[in-house]
Amino acid sequence: MTLSLHVRSALLLLALPVASLAQAASGRFETAQIDAGREQYNRTCAQCHGRNMVNAGTTVYDLRKFPVDQPDRFHQSVANGKGNMPSFKEALTPEQVAVLWAFVGSRGGKEN
Ligand code: HEC
Repeated sequence: MTLSLHVRSALLLLALPVASLAQAASGRFETAQIDAGREQYNRTCAQCHGRNMVNAGTTVYDLRKFPVDQPDRFHQSVANGKGNMPSFKEALTPEQVAVLWAFVGSRGGKEN
């Protein structure tokens, strides 16, 4: 019993850093995050930014062009709002914003 618990926690300790290292090294998002982000996007963002981020790009920002190397700007704009976009600080948890970034930052998984 005690032994198997130890084995399990050792496995957990091994698995977590390896997963996050792999993500950091390749700059890729995990499929599960992207999928969760797509669902969240459809609930809270698609009405303005368009399904699959497709819109005319005239009055609403075209998210397919959002610079993938600017996660801080993404978090800032979503939290505080910008121009005609409302703030989502109260409406979304940090986890929800993180999966949204996985969706937008990976172009909906297309560049993954
Ligand atoms: C009510 C309509 C509306 C909704 C809902 C909305 N947006 Fe926006 N969004 C806009 C508009 C309009 C802009 C352009 C703002 C500007 O530059 O003046 C924008 C811009 C942005 C930008 C670019 C900001 C920058 O740094 O230039 C990001 C990123 C963004 N939206 C993400 C999201 C995400 C993620 C959601 C869902 C949580 C969302 N938006 C929901 C209208 C909306």
